[in-house]
Amino acid sequence: MDAFAVERVREYGAEIAIVLGSGLYSLVQQPARDRTIPYQEIADLPRSGVKGHANRFVLGEIGKARVVFAQGRVHLYEGYSAREITAGIRFLARAGITRLILTNAAGSLHPDFLPGSWMMIADHLNLTGASPLSGESGFLDMTDAYSPSWREQFARAAQALDLKLHRGVYAGLRGPQYETPAEVRMLRSLGADVVGMSTVCEAIQARALGLDLSGFSCLTNWAAGLHKTSLSHQEVLKAGDAAARALGQLLEKVL
Ligand code: HPA
Repeated sequence: MDAFAVERVREYGAEIAIVLGSGLYSLVQQPARDRTIPYQEIADLPRSGVKGHANRFVLGEIGKARVVFAQGRVHLYEGYSAREITAGIRFLARAGITRLILTNAAGSLHPDFLPGSWMMIADHLNLTGASPLSGESGFLDMTDAYSPSWREQFARAAQALDLKLHRGVYAGLRGPQYETPAEVRMLRSLGADVVGMSTVCEAIQARALGLDLSGFSCLTNWAAGLHKTSLSHQEVLKAGDAAARALGQLLEKVL
């Protein structure tokens, strides 16, 4: 059903894809119509109903590198399965993508990781209770799931750009409710540095397909209980927009 879309991406010849999280769309300039592929064209790929998600792939560029941007991801909290929310990753792999960058908005659990800054994901805690590989045979090694060599390149580039780039552990929860202060204390004691509601299932699917993987969390807020303000999706979108520029610079340097 999506053979035509697969062929279009293959012809474009991109090796890298970037999944854009909430509020991070400004990483892509307004694309020409013939450079977009709506999610409707992809088999099994549900569309996100969440505000801030456009539901399309964009054939774009960062610096000189051809990149496929996924604008809009689908989440477990919308009622879909881990298998359904990762259909886009399987599509990208079929279309010739070999390197994947996952971005997301996350709450900070770490006293030194201020809202507005970025964290490169070194490892994750999948606390969703779900896996896109459920029902498949075989076991997947998740050691070094987030490419160590790619992480090193990004760390060096951030230093050269004088850009603050934290490194740490992303905890992926199912949501859609934000965490309670008690859950935030628990996550901290489990070794998490930031918390969000995406990324972990996509990361598992990407590694199962042999893709090189990187992940970046845009810290949009303090996790619940760490600050007096209450959490809102609006706050998350606003912080993402400003931070997208910083990530754009970093990606341009490395890609
Ligand atoms: N918790 C969970 N998901 C999030 C948060 C948070 O504080 N901020 C952005 N996404």
